[in-house]
Amino acid sequence: MLKWLGHAAFELDLKGKMILIDPWISNPSSPVKVTDYHNVDYIVVTHDHSDHLGDAVEISRTTGAPVIAVFELANFLEETEKIKTIGMNIGGPLKLDTEISVYLTQAFHSCTHGAPAGTVIKTEEGTIYHAGDTGLFSDMKLIGEVYRPDIALLPIGGFFTMDPVQAAIAVQMISPKIAIPMHYGTFEVIDRNPEEFARKSKELSPATQVVILKPGESIDLR
Ligand code: NI
Ligand code: MN
Repeated sequence: MLKWLGHAAFELDLKGKMILIDPWISNPSSPVKVTDYHNVDYIVVTHDHSDHLGDAVEISRTTGAPVIAVFELANFLEETEKIKTIGMNIGGPLKLDTEISVYLTQAFHSCTHGAPAGTVIKTEEGTIYHAGDTGLFSDMKLIGEVYRPDIALLPIGGFFTMDPVQAAIAVQMISPKIAIPMHYGTFEVIDRNPEEFARKSKELSPATQVVILKPGESIDLR
């Protein structure tokens, strides 16, 4: 099960394992509270902007879940916050156990520590690509070919990332079974209509199903 927590935050519930991605749980549209999380196994953070690093440090402290991030960011968090981290880099995989592999992918964006990334999480129940914050880039086609994601989570809010039309072009390149828009509506500057993304995506990539979630809604994996 994959649940949208608003903005770029997702909860991935696998058989017996919970992974949080970009856990800014205290975002304005979040349906949950930081204190709701007691059993988290891993936290993946795409980059150090506060709307992605979010509540990762606090959740890592209370649950003991390591923060998986680009090497320099992981080192920074380990030194300054004394939390458990796994520092990796674009490429991978990081094998969490026999059934879960985490990859970091390129993202066209900025950050303070290391480099911004997207992440691919391969599990027995399906493969998820979370693009992080990124502009459109043509190697998304390569991400589609190499990892064959079942579900692509794509920012559509514009201004800081791809907008709905650019994200639809990303869908065309990645060719996932399902595309879910994220990183919109949280604040005024990224207030975009997900239907605009769905329409354009359907036109460019009719084989992909666009699923528009509301914060708190989830989708079953295979
Ligand atoms: Ni960012
Ligand atoms: Mn962001």
